[in-house]
Amino acid sequence: MIPKTASIESFLLKRKKISGEYRPPPDKSITHRGIFLGALSHETSRVQNPLTSGDCLSTFRAFNQLGVKITKKKNEWVIAKGKKSVLTQLRELSAPRAALDCGNSGTTMRLLSGILSGQAFKSRLTGDASLSKRPMKRVIEPLTKMGAKISASKDGTAPLEIAGNPHLRAIEWKSGVASAQVKSSILLAGLFADGKTMVIEPERSRDHTERILKSMGAKIRFKSSGSALVENKISIEGGAILRGLDFKVPGDFSSAAFFIAAALIVPGSDLTILDVNLNPTRTGLLGVLRRMGAKIRLESVREESGEPIGDLRVRYSELNSTEVSPAEIPLLIDEIPVLSVIATQASGITTIIGAEELRVKESDRLSAIATELRKMGARIQEKKDGLVIEGRTPLQGAIVQSCDDHRMAMSLAVAGLVATKWITMIKDFNCISISFPSFWQDLKSLER
Ligand code: S3P
Repeated sequence: MIPKTASIESFLLKRKKISGEYRPPPDKSITHRGIFLGALSHETSRVQNPLTSGDCLSTFRAFNQLGVKITKKKNEWVIAKGKKSVLTQLRELSAPRAALDCGNSGTTMRLLSGILSGQAFKSRLTGDASLSKRPMKRVIEPLTKMGAKISASKDGTAPLEIAGNPHLRAIEWKSGVASAQVKSSILLAGLFADGKTMVIEPERSRDHTERILKSMGAKIRFKSSGSALVENKISIEGGAILRGLDFKVPGDFSSAAFFIAAALIVPGSDLTILDVNLNPTRTGLLGVLRRMGAKIRLESVREESGEPIGDLRVRYSELNSTEVSPAEIPLLIDEIPVLSVIATQASGITTIIGAEELRVKESDRLSAIATELRKMGARIQEKKDGLVIEGRTPLQGAIVQSCDDHRMAMSLAVAGLVATKWITMIKDFNCISISFPSFWQDLKSLER
């Protein structure tokens, strides 16, 4: 058990390198979708290697409350078959007796809103303090246009009350944000709509929902993210019968990113990360790091369960600064805090622009990372939509706050690996259990 305030003293004092072979935890986004989509099929579904973190368990529990029986076996979740609804051809869900608590998970709340919009019952969605501040209008508006009735608090935040409608209208929706949660919410509602629902995104966001829906037999059209011409229009036909799902969740690139960062900035490190998801809608960080001069080699790239995966060999590198453009942001949306840490160790000025979405994540990540890294001596300026980071700056240990944000806590732990003078104390470190419960033990196992 990690103490609520964890110190990373041992790394700091011993200045160890990060080396060896490492298999990152299963992907959070894909585990969520395994449950969401498996629970819509009336056939049995199997999700192998699921991530049992706080966020995924919020989705797991919500579906239990909706009458979907999910059994945890060794390293697999089995979603039992259910009754097919005569109205929608999808599995019939039951009205929940109590509010569905989405915890800290934006993916749970937004994707669930899409599914609940197509049900013949009412439901209520709640979340923790952080989730209750996050914007929900971005899903409420399209889902309302499709025919659901959704009420929220005045500023468009949770709790949400959803009166579903199994006869939703298909819409064409131009989303103001490149958000996979918004896109997926509308596509899931589109399964309950009459006709073709289309989502147009300003930039391409992660496409796991599309890939899984296609494998289950949904009539969905999207440009595979591997193709040269990337188009941001996705359409889905309502009324499909979804086949049961049987797939294996690959390693989470976003979790691996902390170890990539550690290996790049801790002198002497040489780390091979195994079986990690390499979906191009997730790996924008790799392109940015290569521009910075990172020694990263892709090995044994292959396809598994409809997703590209492979191994990454990462070695300590002398890095240079770069400019991160708005078009790259959706492809590395969760990696910006740890990229900021890397940028403090790269020579020159790194700029990140077009990243205002970071202000509405689990914390205001632009403000949080700038404030906390400054406490460690970093030269980092916060802009309205981004950050300007001056390197190469020696960091020193400090007492820093995770802001109850898992990605902040782990980014600061990586910064602590190269900090000198004092030890780094990270307050409220336990929030890492949201996406990466074994982070601490895993990092320790790679000390050499
Ligand atoms: C996620 C999408 C992203 C990401 C989040 C997980 C998903 O959010 O930040 O951690 O699983 O769809 P947005 O879609 O809001 O950008």
